[in-house]
Amino acid sequence: MIDQRAPPAGPDLSKGVALSEFTGATLLGHVGNEEVLLVRSGSEISAIDAHCSHYHGPLAEGLVDGESIRCPWHHACFDLRTGEASRAPAINALAVWQVEHQGDRIFVGQKRAQPKPRLNGAVEAPGKTPSKIVIVGGGAAGFAAAEMLRRQAFSGSIVMLSSETAPPVDRPNLSKDYLAGSAPEDWLPLRPDSFYTEAAIDLRLKTEVSSIDTKARNVLLADGKAIPYDRLLLATGAEPVRLPIPGADQPHVHVLRSLDDCRAIIASADGARRAVVIGASFIGLEVAASLRARNIEVHVVGLEQRPMERVLGPDMGDFVRALHEEHGVVFHLGDTVTAIDGKRASLKSGGVLEADLVVVGVGVRPRLALAEKAGLAIDRGVTVNAYLETSVSGIYAAGDIARWPDPHSRENIRVEHWVVAQRQGQTAARNMLGQREIFDAVPFFWSQHYDVPINYVGHAEKWDEIAVDGNIAGRDCALQYKIGGRALAVASIYRDTASLEAEVAMERATS
Ligand SMILES: Cc1cc2nc3c(=O)[nH]c(=O)nc-3n(C[C@H](O)[C@H](O)[C@H](O)COP(=O)(O)OP(=O)(O)OC[C@H]3O[C@@H](n4cnc5c(N)ncnc54)[C@H](O)[C@@H]3O)c2cc1C
Ligand code: FES
Repeated sequence: MIDQRAPPAGPDLSKGVALSEFTGATLLGHVGNEEVLLVRSGSEISAIDAHCSHYHGPLAEGLVDGESIRCPWHHACFDLRTGEASRAPAINALAVWQVEHQGDRIFVGQKRAQPKPRLNGAVEAPGKTPSKIVIVGGGAAGFAAAEMLRRQAFSGSIVMLSSETAPPVDRPNLSKDYLAGSAPEDWLPLRPDSFYTEAAIDLRLKTEVSSIDTKARNVLLADGKAIPYDRLLLATGAEPVRLPIPGADQPHVHVLRSLDDCRAIIASADGARRAVVIGASFIGLEVAASLRARNIEVHVVGLEQRPMERVLGPDMGDFVRALHEEHGVVFHLGDTVTAIDGKRASLKSGGVLEADLVVVGVGVRPRLALAEKAGLAIDRGVTVNAYLETSVSGIYAAGDIARWPDPHSRENIRVEHWVVAQRQGQTAARNMLGQREIFDAVPFFWSQHYDVPINYVGHAEKWDEIAVDGNIAGRDCALQYKIGGRALAVASIYRDTASLEAEVAMERATS
């Protein structure tokens, strides 16, 4: 069959480009039908896949930093020499091509072999290397840890225990494209089922861990079985808060955390005319946007006066509200639902909203029961040190449950961000193998509302000034959240370079 696609943009790099044509940090071209990006890092030139392996972000708009490039969309980081996805959210390596210099021209040759798993730096002396690692949790942190252990050539056993029915999925997609109906289900698995068998990761689904025997070094399952460990990672995440109101247990009233929850919402949305979303923060509003994409009338009920004000401040809150109103969402702010009787949701203010389906997005609680029962130190989360180790040697914690010493905010913080959970899983994996890697990544999250992405780097629970650069309503802005003149966090819309630069600046300020 003849390929009738137009050739990709830019020069044909296999035919060579003059050095004089490559003056910036990157040059987009192609080899055959594949888009290839030339990247200059000091005196070295690399040729890599032009698109991020996470969601296909354009790496030509990324930031080259030393021997790596960061993706403009969700800040994944790739090694320019090997293509390895060195920092989540990307997990898969990029393709890398051979580069040859001939006179004053650069030629891109064959694709290089993908990086092989390797041991990266110091591991414990033989005899002390763990042979049995158990991970409790099949979410962001648990998956990233298991994958990183194998990438690090760990050859011992990995048992991954998850109470979910599905192997690890791209959870952020559950409130976005998948719920909106614009992403097929096969986009969701973080890796195909075959990965776990091939990588000898003993993934046990629908498996509830009920306790940990820290002396015998066993985890105990709900069915009474004991699984021994040398190192244990707790990555139990968080569970949605359920409203203690009459009628919240009806089948058309949902929370959203797992793929099963999402499938249940989609089933209720089928044929629904009107939805009530309780909660006007990230999950609630992403759900509202996705249900609008299904042409369902959406009413959002929230206690706050402005959506997302607590995290993003009043101006962004007003913008987010106006954005959703433009798309037909009706807000009932400063209000709450006191009872749900069939299709009638009663408001505290006195009104009644008709609802074929209700989604409750009023926040989550970290799942701390296992850690508490095992006697680990707890402080509104599982307390970990800079290496993500808990108060009990050999037991690590990562993701939504972990409260760690964040060098950037200079506070012990716990956040509920996908990228942080994955990166903590990766660091915990290396540390379980004996490396001493401080977790010092700058927190990052993103949220998507219709065609508007909001990116956020850093962590600011409070601030005394918000410095706005650009125009929020014009969807072109970067907001700095400052205390005493120091920027603790930056939120941005369509300012990807500024967001990446802020991340690098925060890293440098504490390195
Ligand atoms: C719908 C949705 C959209 C989101 N969108 C974004 C976003 O856009 N950006 C962003 O930054 N963050 C987002 N988040 C938050 C992000 O998904 C979480 O911060 C992240 O998943 C936390 O990872 P984790 O590994 O700590 O927990 P999880 O991913 O929740 O995984 C926890 C795992 O532990 C298992 N588990 C818990 N207890 C036990 C037990 N006793 N025995 C066995 N297994 C157990 C659970 O079944 C689960 O598999 C979103 C979350 C949701 C729900
Ligand atoms: S598309 Fe590159 S990090 Fe998401």
